[in-house]
Amino acid sequence: MAAFYTVPIRNGLRIITQQATFKILQITDLHLAERYFLKVSQLRRLRRLIDREKPDLIVNTGDFFCRRRLFPPHMIVKLFTALIGKEYPWAFAWGNHDCEAFRWGRWYPVEDWEQEFKLFEATLSQTKNCLYIPSHEFISGWEDLSPEETEQEMEALLLPRGNGKSKEYFDGFYGGNFKIELFDARRNLKSWDLFIFNSRQKFHIPPQALHWMEQEIASDERPVPAVCFYHLPNRAFQQAWDAGFAKGIKGESINYLKDTGRVHEAFKRAGTVRACFAGHDHKNDFMGIYEGITYVYGRKTLRFSKGAVDAVRGFSHPPKDSSPLEWGAKLITLGLQEEDPMRNQMYVSTVLHSRTEDPIPIDPLPRCVPVPG
Ligand SMILES: [Fe+2]
Repeated sequence: MAAFYTVPIRNGLRIITQQATFKILQITDLHLAERYFLKVSQLRRLRRLIDREKPDLIVNTGDFFCRRRLFPPHMIVKLFTALIGKEYPWAFAWGNHDCEAFRWGRWYPVEDWEQEFKLFEATLSQTKNCLYIPSHEFISGWEDLSPEETEQEMEALLLPRGNGKSKEYFDGFYGGNFKIELFDARRNLKSWDLFIFNSRQKFHIPPQALHWMEQEIASDERPVPAVCFYHLPNRAFQQAWDAGFAKGIKGESINYLKDTGRVHEAFKRAGTVRACFAGHDHKNDFMGIYEGITYVYGRKTLRFSKGAVDAVRGFSHPPKDSSPLEWGAKLITLGLQEEDPMRNQMYVSTVLHSRTEDPIPIDPLPRCVPVPG
């Protein structure tokens, strides 16, 4: 369990640890919309799985809430804190349903959406053990957008109209884009960068956040590997699958929505991104390599919503395409031992209720070299 302390850095925080390895459990797509008692019993099941793996940090990659909102999001955060977060530090990446939870099924009229999101950022950052940095102001103030990016953001900022129909969107919230550094206290050096991004409802990670990330990475004298967490898969998941460089289960289409490939291009330019973890597509659980970067689907966590079931006797594994998956999580083990941090080891395994699958190494690669043309 967590043996570290944190200090604030610009638009993020630094975890200072003496450990030789650091374990992160990615949980995703919990869709906590069901009745209270069901939520409690399912979260207790999840707690048992977490107790088995004892991660240092949980990263929740979104769709934590649901637009069928029987509970307001801050109550769900309270419940999660009581059952899990009290003992396990956790970070949160916004998902499309989390954005929608503020927009649909509303229980009081909201005048100012931006203000609503900002208030919730404050709630998260003040929640015990929730490693969340309010970043709306910081990221939205980041300029140097290209004409195409400006045009995209104008569209993303369209204000809500009508009466809550599915065609509405508002992607003008720039919070949830921040950095967590893993710092090796024994040698007094940074070992890993973890970037948490808000992939929004449609337009994916804001270009401002990607520019900020590139500048952060470029300003490091000594490069360290970066791992990114966000909810929506980006187009590179599709490209890795199409190229035959992916392994695992693809039970549904890859919904990268309006990502045109710009997210991967930014990761490639940054040069240190080793792996990215997404969620959203409940029946997909594969990992693939595209142009030197490993893209990994999280395992849908809990059986709420569609595409996942509890482990039952006789459950066949691996399941057939498009059948529901047994719910679980992903365990990411990061090494902090190499003299050159870029060579630090990384392993990923799927965690199911009954067992944890064998870890798969995500090899250290030379710094990604942009592909010409
Ligand atoms: Fe989603």
